[in-house]
Amino acid sequence: MSKKVLVATEKPFAPEAVTKIREIVEKAGYRLELLEKYTEKSALLKAVADADALIIRSDKADAEVLDASGQLKIVVRAGAGYDNIDCAKAKEKGIVAMNTPGQNSNAVAELVFAMMLYRARNFFTPKAGTELRGKTIGIHAYGNVGHYVAQIAKGFGMKILAFDPFVKRELMEKNGVTPVASVEELYEKADYVSLHLPKMKETLGFVNEALLKKMKRGAALVNTARKEVVDEDALQKVLAQRTDLSYLSDIAPDCAEALSAACPGRIYFTPKKMGAQTNEANVNAGVAAANQIVAFFEKGDTTYQVNK
Ligand code: 3PG
Repeated sequence: MSKKVLVATEKPFAPEAVTKIREIVEKAGYRLELLEKYTEKSALLKAVADADALIIRSDKADAEVLDASGQLKIVVRAGAGYDNIDCAKAKEKGIVAMNTPGQNSNAVAELVFAMMLYRARNFFTPKAGTELRGKTIGIHAYGNVGHYVAQIAKGFGMKILAFDPFVKRELMEKNGVTPVASVEELYEKADYVSLHLPKMKETLGFVNEALLKKMKRGAALVNTARKEVVDEDALQKVLAQRTDLSYLSDIAPDCAEALSAACPGRIYFTPKKMGAQTNEANVNAGVAAANQIVAFFEKGDTTYQVNK
């Protein structure tokens, strides 16, 4: 029996991406099963039972899913953040977990600008807005997305600051980015703070009351990372006190309703996480995931393993 590669995407890839994934999988002599737009977890539990490989997006590969798999060897998150995979459980079961870093970063970076422009033009209402040119963007965490954000910001004529203690300042400077000495300085100086922190136990609620209070007058916080990196109680409190601040996020926080009611005209949430939802990003991440699976089975390649 040929290997089964299950693509389980509650939010489906673009059709072109699925076609390309299928080509790679079938060329390798494996078979592809597609589980799209599923509404019940039971559908995933059933489909994963005889899968050898699993490709997911933000779909949860938690302990229950991994336990439901009888012969799974590899799970690839077609994307960057792998907070949706229970990596410890996967390791315990001898399942390799991978992501596809960088493949959807440009799409996420472009959404940052879509949201900033939407805010700058007063949510497309006739009231006179502002321009991005000459404003300061503060990139909080300078990884793949942060890098693309800086590139695009240059074209807009923005001043670019970044804070990332894990990235060499020379790398930022080479890209025309000014590294700041502290995260506080970033929040004090930026007109737009763009979040690119991964969600991990060290970053939960990292954007706290003290940082939010440091934000420059009239500034906006743009979150295309994960809702959990922002402390929601602090967000509600500071936005209530500081009526000059805005919050734009690619996925609504748990307090969305209360926040929108309390801060009219200063809040925007995408209806469904859409940072990586472009044809190009879907093709890049989907193709990378399929190739990584083939390389793993055929050559034992574990380059992008995240649960070593
Ligand atoms: C990522 O971590 O790569 C992004 O959040 C994309 O998520 P998605 O594949 O669910 O759109």
